[in-house]
Amino acid sequence: MAETFVTAVVAQRPVAAGHYELIAAHHPALDAVQPGQFINVRVARPGSWDPLLRRPFSLYRRFANGDWSIVYRVVGRGTEALARLRPGDDIDVLGPLGRGFVKVPEARRLLLVGGGVGVPPLLFLAQTWQGQAEMKALLGFAEAGLAFGWTEFAALGIEAEVATDDGSLGHRGFVTDLLENQLNRNEWDGLYACGPRPMLEAVARIACRAGVPCQLAFEEAMGCGVGACLSCVLPVRTEGGVQYQRVCREGPVFWAEEVYGHG
Ligand SMILES: Cc1cc2nc3c(=O)[nH]c(=O)nc-3n(C[C@H](O)[C@H](O)[C@H](O)COP(=O)(O)OP(=O)(O)OC[C@H]3O[C@@H](n4cnc5c(N)ncnc54)[C@H](O)[C@@H]3O)c2cc1C
Ligand code: FES
Repeated sequence: MAETFVTAVVAQRPVAAGHYELIAAHHPALDAVQPGQFINVRVARPGSWDPLLRRPFSLYRRFANGDWSIVYRVVGRGTEALARLRPGDDIDVLGPLGRGFVKVPEARRLLLVGGGVGVPPLLFLAQTWQGQAEMKALLGFAEAGLAFGWTEFAALGIEAEVATDDGSLGHRGFVTDLLENQLNRNEWDGLYACGPRPMLEAVARIACRAGVPCQLAFEEAMGCGVGACLSCVLPVRTEGGVQYQRVCREGPVFWAEEVYGHG
């Protein structure tokens, strides 16, 4: 059940160009958060309502003492405000929100495909489901300077392959090239992906063709984040036909075929 709470910033550290990991103190409201769910962070300064809207972020990891973190890329006013927070400052959070990834009980071998700031929810999934399945991560970035996360997967004992568009780190090309290679060479029972829309569409097409069940987490631009404003709707195929569903409420995780059909 989502609640609003205030906790303390513990640390901020750069993880890639313009990307920071913000570590915040434990709060019981996030003890049961599921991978793929998100939090809505108030970015206005105390006493101000500007910017009015909270900003959505996925959890990145949880530490042994219960502290948790997000990784964010600075792209505008809200993330600039987050980057100004210092250890000891308050951070005002609403969460956990939305519906997260589903762990299919019989699935034993899972592929995680992340692009850019779509990587955080997959690291959180890997940490949460560690020991329940064999996992491998495929991470895509525009260039080496924007890449992060593979050492955190390695620390969980999960191999991560990296692709960059310009070849400055790992495979030269898209993360979907790595995905096709994996699906050609190995048996995988489930695919979990988060990243930009074109990447998600390509992942969905490849997964449907290979017959591998695939869940996608959408990071749409949001308004209220709690189901009231309808600014985040997505056409979703249901038994009753196509319905517009709210990414913040019915998502952000959907089955690939619900959104993109069968390839
Ligand atoms: C469920 C969910 C989880 C997310 N998790 C993360 C995360 O873990 N790390 C992270 O860095 N970001 C994440 N995002 C995206 C993040 O919420 C936005 O980058 C942030 O709200 C931008 O706020 P801003 O005020 O800095 O930028 P704004 O001033 O609001 O916008 C700056 C520019 O970025 C564009 N923009 C804003 N939001 C988005 C978006 N969601 N998608 C594409 N373009 C956008 C705007 O159109 C504008 O061009 C997530 C989004 C959702 C919905
Ligand atoms: S962001 Fe307002 S309904 Fe989803």
